[in-house]
Amino acid sequence: MLDHLKANNRAWAARMLSRDPDFFARLERQQTPEYLWIGCSDSRVPATQIVDLDPGQIFVHRNVANLAPPQDANYLSVLQFAVDVLKVKHIIVVGHYGCGGVSAAVDGKRRGLVDHWLHPIREVRHEHVHELDAIADATARLDRLCELNVIRQVRNVASDIIVQSAWADAQSLAVHGWIYSLANGFVTDLGVTVSGPQDIARLG
Ligand code: CO
Repeated sequence: MLDHLKANNRAWAARMLSRDPDFFARLERQQTPEYLWIGCSDSRVPATQIVDLDPGQIFVHRNVANLAPPQDANYLSVLQFAVDVLKVKHIIVVGHYGCGGVSAAVDGKRRGLVDHWLHPIREVRHEHVHELDAIADATARLDRLCELNVIRQVRNVASDIIVQSAWADAQSLAVHGWIYSLANGFVTDLGVTVSGPQDIARLG
């Protein structure tokens, strides 16, 4: 079963060792990533590959539509471990254009549990309904909602008590919002970086 994946794994491990004989031994001792990635579960947006880093360099949390809901125990556990224990320097919320989760949030169809998960995106749309309704092209309108969703999640992360406490303790930590294009593989920085409590007001 899944023999091709097991063969891939052995070949990959051998390749990593040939490049760096100490690679696995070093990672086994300790992980010291500088980045926490909060991204979409979409198979086309794999964190480490997009920014061409190796295992051990990014702490990753992914869910449908890259949400950071303030009551989600899974996300909060990842955030706390990343900030308090790993002491990452950067948290990057990474959305992507053409996100199926964002689309499903606003297409009016009933799907079940996921409708509840996606509820925060409908709130984002509601908050920006005038700007969004002014965009005639449906794809462009959805892409803008993908961006607005990232900005909202940056605000959620930056206003969380875990991040606020880190700043109060003078820990170096910045929260960034990026969007990824499936069409060309490029990430774009949305320019909403928050490096301390003073920056949050800018996010609106
Ligand atoms: Co997505």
